[in-house]
Amino acid sequence: MFGDNAHAAPPAWAAIQARTAALGFDMPSEANTGALLRLLAASKPGGWLLELGTGTGLATTWLLAGLDAGARLVSVDVDAVVQDVAREHLKNERLRFVLADGLDYVRSAPPASFDLIFADAWPGKYEALDQTLALLKRGGLYVIDDMLPQPNWPEGHQARVDALVERLDNHPDLVVTRIAWASGLIIAARR
Ligand SMILES: C[S@@+](CC[C@H](N)C(=O)[O-])C[C@H]1O[C@@H](n2cnc3c(N)ncnc32)[C@H](O)[C@@H]1O
Repeated sequence: MFGDNAHAAPPAWAAIQARTAALGFDMPSEANTGALLRLLAASKPGGWLLELGTGTGLATTWLLAGLDAGARLVSVDVDAVVQDVAREHLKNERLRFVLADGLDYVRSAPPASFDLIFADAWPGKYEALDQTLALLKRGGLYVIDDMLPQPNWPEGHQARVDALVERLDNHPDLVVTRIAWASGLIIAARR
């Protein structure tokens, strides 16, 4: 079907997806989100990319597939059990996993050090947003998903999403686009 990119998934993706289901991990990124991430990663040759929230590595797989030889990806998660799935399946010298609280990572990283940030955890999205955006280089991209209502949202989450969208829309240094694709994406570029 046109608009379904799962057929073009990187080799490790299906195996990680099977492990994800077996683990009962219920926050996985969709294939169409991954396909867009791979495209954006490929647009940053030699770039430094950051994923906040590795999970089991589904989006990591797509991001890694988009890197050129000189690009690097750092993926951060606080949960060793889920991140270990990604570590097992995605061994690559251009990819570094960090087991840490995303908040600590964001607070300790140098400003303007990343060309693309996929913020897929609470920190970087609903916490420490300004510090996370400060990590973007000029022209860098900030990507988030789960902007459309999801069945696993906790009570009251829509209000948080609305507030986040408003903050991003009104940010003086960002050009923001809302995309009704997969679980609902926002892509913002730092001026
Ligand atoms: C939406 S899932 C990530 C999904 C993943 N990117 C994928 O492609 O399937 C959110 C992840 O954030 C992690 N997480 C939650 N709180 C965190 C924190 N404070 N710091 C870092 N990671 C955190 C969870 O362990 C979970 O794996």
